[in-house]
Amino acid sequence: MLIQLIYASRASRVLGPADIKDILGASQRNNARAGVTGALCLHDGIFLQLLEGDRSAVNVLYHRLLQDPRHRDPAVLDLCEIPHRRFTGWSMGLIAAVEANRQLFLKYSRTAAFDPYGMSTATLRSFFDEVLENVRWLE
Ligand SMILES: Cc1cc2nc3c(=O)[nH]c(=O)nc-3n(C[C@H](O)[C@H](O)[C@H](O)COP(=O)(O)O)c2cc1C
Repeated sequence: MLIQLIYASRASRVLGPADIKDILGASQRNNARAGVTGALCLHDGIFLQLLEGDRSAVNVLYHRLLQDPRHRDPAVLDLCEIPHRRFTGWSMGLIAAVEANRQLFLKYSRTAAFDPYGMSTATLRSFFDEVLENVRWLE
């Protein structure tokens, strides 16, 4: 059974390019093997990640992520069955921190700060719909 899980967490410290490279490298290596796809954003010190794949594979990955000291305050924001994947091109794409994307983040935020913890499920889903259409990915 295919599911989608969206969670948010806070970076536990300022993460540099080496940390991001390490996270993406591990994601691309492990997710391809586990059949997990999705997208990851890091904005204003907050991670927002969408994971999609087999329910047990997503659960195993999420529990591993909870052990990672690079983030804290994890919160599952959405968990649902999906008819098909949408991020088929990405074992894990990172949404780049560029000005064009800042506007996208703001569009879906209640305040000037990016606050996925306060977003409704419908807003989160619209946000990721737009990510698929418009976002600039980290090359
Ligand atoms: C916000 C965040 C998102 C992450 N996303 C993934 C992911 O999608 N897949 C993954 O395998 N590891 C991810 N990681 C890294 C894992 O926590 C862990 O370090 C990694 O899976 C270990 O892989 P390794 O045993 O191959 O070194 C993420 C870490 C953070 C902080």
